[in-house]
Order: sequence, then C-alpha cells, then structure tokens
Amino acid sequence: RDVLTIAIDGPAGAGKSTIAKRLAKDYKIVYVDTGAMYRSVALYMMEHHIDLDIEQDVVEALEQVHIRIEYKDQVQHIYLNEEDVTQKIRQQSVGEGASKVSAYLPVRKKMVMMQQEMAKMTSLVMDGRDIGTHVLTDAKVKIFLNADVMIRAKRRYNELLEKGESADLNVIADEIRERDHRDMNREHAPLIQAHDAHLLDTSKMSIDDVVHAIKKIIEMRR
Ligand code: C5P
Repeated sequence: RDVLTIAIDGPAGAGKSTIAKRLAKDYKIVYVDTGAMYRSVALYMMEHHIDLDIEQDVVEALEQVHIRIEYKDQVQHIYLNEEDVTQKIRQQSVGEGASKVSAYLPVRKKMVMMQQEMAKMTSLVMDGRDIGTHVLTDAKVKIFLNADVMIRAKRRYNELLEKGESADLNVIADEIRERDHRDMNREHAPLIQAHDAHLLDTSKMSIDDVVHAIKKIIEMRR
C-alpha cells in the first residue's frame, strides 16, 4: 500500500491551507487542518470565560473538550462537543486564543494524539506548526512555507475584506508578528523548519507556482 503523507508547516498567512487544499484535491487525499483543532480548544475556553493565560485553568477545562473531525464532500468540518464550529473558529480573536492555548503541553499532547491516529489510516496532507517536527516525523514530503510578513498580512487582509469584515492592514501585521513570535518561542514544539523539510518562500509565487513546486518535490520522492 502506497501511503502518501505530506506535512506542511509555516507561520500564519503563509498560504498553508490554500496549498494543502489544492494538493488534497489533486492527489485525492484527505486534508487535515490542525490549526482548527487548537482554535476549537481556544473557542471552548473563550465561551466558558476561562482565562487563556492561566495554564492550570485551561488544562482543567480541557477534559470537557471533545473534538471530532468529519468530512462532508471532502471539506473538513470540526465539531466541538458535537457543535459544528467550522465557521466560528475562523475569527481573528480565536486564532489569537489558539496561539495561547497551543503553548500548553497537555493541550498539544491531546491534539497530536488525534492527528497521529488520523495519519495511521489514510494518505493525507496535514498543515500546522509542528507537523514535520513532531506529528508526522516520517512524512514522505515535508514543506515549510514562508513569506514576508507584510505579504502575509495583505493576504489575511484581503480574506477578511472578501468575507465582508472590516480590517486594518497594520493591525493585522502586528497581530501576525505577535502570533509568530509566540509560536516560534514557546517551549513545546515551537514553529521551526524540520531539518528535512523543503523551504518555499511564497512571497513572489502564485498559488499555482507553489502547488507546482510541491508536486515536483513529491514526484521526486515517490
Ligand atoms: O494555522 P492557524 O492560524 O489556524 O493556527 C492557529 C494557532 O494554532 C497557531 O498560531 C498556533 O499557535 C497553533 N497551532 C499549533 N500547532 C499546529 C497548528 C496550529 O501550535 N499544528
């Protein structure tokens, strides 16, 4: 059985999910968005007024958090205690919250266990911050996507405008910087390029360019 596992890591707004979705479609494999899992944990804490900065409180409440992933027409739906929160977790504030709760080891352990279970069964492309370094250390292909911070901010800004939300480019850039800093400097599984990952700077690449480059790497390795 030829199982294809693709690990994609990188900072916020580097284009991970867009690229991962394209690869999933083209290779007819599953796309797992691990950020959605950390976001769901954060959402639970926020809705229950738990202070995200107090690790003990977050870890205690973690026992009440049940996350389930389901696919409907190839689209990942995430359920938090049986409520479909796929849309709710996209808010900027939930992303910020996810960056806080993801620093706590018990939170990471719970998520990583689920992620590794999923990878046992099927071919997939998984994106996040620690996929190549911790979750799927023997992935067939590891990609580290990066781009200039202002370009990443601009992409987020455009996404928000498209959704009809208002946004301030400089505020978004500051939030991205802060989130990257937290993700790269945390103690457990910080955001870092795996030694065997292929680095792609997408600042000046179109989506098609990036997909094409990754496919070439995959074909080389198969
Ligand atoms: O990718 P996304 O913006 O949805 O991720 C939200 C946050 O979740 C990240 O800023 C990061 O702190 C955390 N995360 C993580 N490990 C992953 C995926 C996401 O720590 N594998």
